[in-house]
Amino acid sequence: TWTTATFVEESIKDIRAQVGDRRVLLALSGGVDSSTLAFLLHKAIGDQLTCMFIDQGFMRKYEPERLVKLFQEQFHIPVAYVNARDRFLAQIDGITDPEEKRKRIGHEFIRVFEEESKRLGPFDFLAQGTLYPDVIESADTSIPSQPGQRVAVKIKSHHNVGGLPDDLCFKLVEPLRKLFKDEVRKVGRSIGLPEEIVQRHPFPGPGLAIRILGEVTAERLDILRDADYVVRQEINRQGLYHDFWQAFAVLLPIRSVGVMGDQRTYAYPIVLRLVSSEDGMTADWSRVPYDLLETISNRIVNEVRGVNRVVYDITSKPPGTIEWE
Ligand code: XMP
Repeated sequence: TWTTATFVEESIKDIRAQVGDRRVLLALSGGVDSSTLAFLLHKAIGDQLTCMFIDQGFMRKYEPERLVKLFQEQFHIPVAYVNARDRFLAQIDGITDPEEKRKRIGHEFIRVFEEESKRLGPFDFLAQGTLYPDVIESADTSIPSQPGQRVAVKIKSHHNVGGLPDDLCFKLVEPLRKLFKDEVRKVGRSIGLPEEIVQRHPFPGPGLAIRILGEVTAERLDILRDADYVVRQEINRQGLYHDFWQAFAVLLPIRSVGVMGDQRTYAYPIVLRLVSSEDGMTADWSRVPYDLLETISNRIVNEVRGVNRVVYDITSKPPGTIEWE
């Protein structure tokens, strides 16, 4: 029978046998797959592992800092932090089409990854958090037909774009290939990954950039990050985090009239998106207490400059999607 203990033990043996004394690169996203992978590899090969975290500038408030701190200070796994905020923002300057945004962010990710891996390298191996469903889904040409063969690999990022340039070749280390998501969570937990990562809500690769409808600017990012932070705080405060599949804020690029004190305001609306779901394929808007909505709304309007209205999305999926872009 499958147990996490035997899985971990055998994976460590396999990783050591495959890697020997060579170096492995891993792109950390903060999600459960790449974090479990990092823990497992660090256990197996220690400082032959380099974790790289590319900060696109589209994560939630305090998350990049928190992730790096958690890995480095609490778990003593060094992380090469790459601040690429400006270049990602420049890439999508003026872009309003959702798919075009995704494409540009994905391509920039590949470029940054390539540059940084050359700077930090050389590396023989790339560790990927490929799971069993990824394996069966993509009868994938990037998977080597012979073990140990070097191939130009696709980065499994949640960006779903593109492969690495041919001159940047790695062998793959994919110890999670036989696991389903719930098994990854169990493994992660068993080797000490904190619950906040094990049970983290899904977060899209392009992050807040697709939660600001239309044009993304530094100002709008700041507003959304602050509004989103209030949502998360209130949900945590009420102990409701695990009741949702996802719970977040969306910024609409329009303005409406409001009144504050005796001043007329003209500012952005924030949409609250709180949903329950089994797998993200379908979803239901969450029937939350009005008091929760009220607290969140009051706090956002009072605390986040640039927002004067909060609305609640009561659309399920289908016909709506979970994200707004
Ligand atoms: P939708 O909006 O299609 O989302 O109902 C379903 C799930 O997928 C996530 N999502 C993404 N994840 N890159 C990702 O990694 C993306 O571009 C992307 N778009 C949507 C979404 O958060 C939800 O969990």
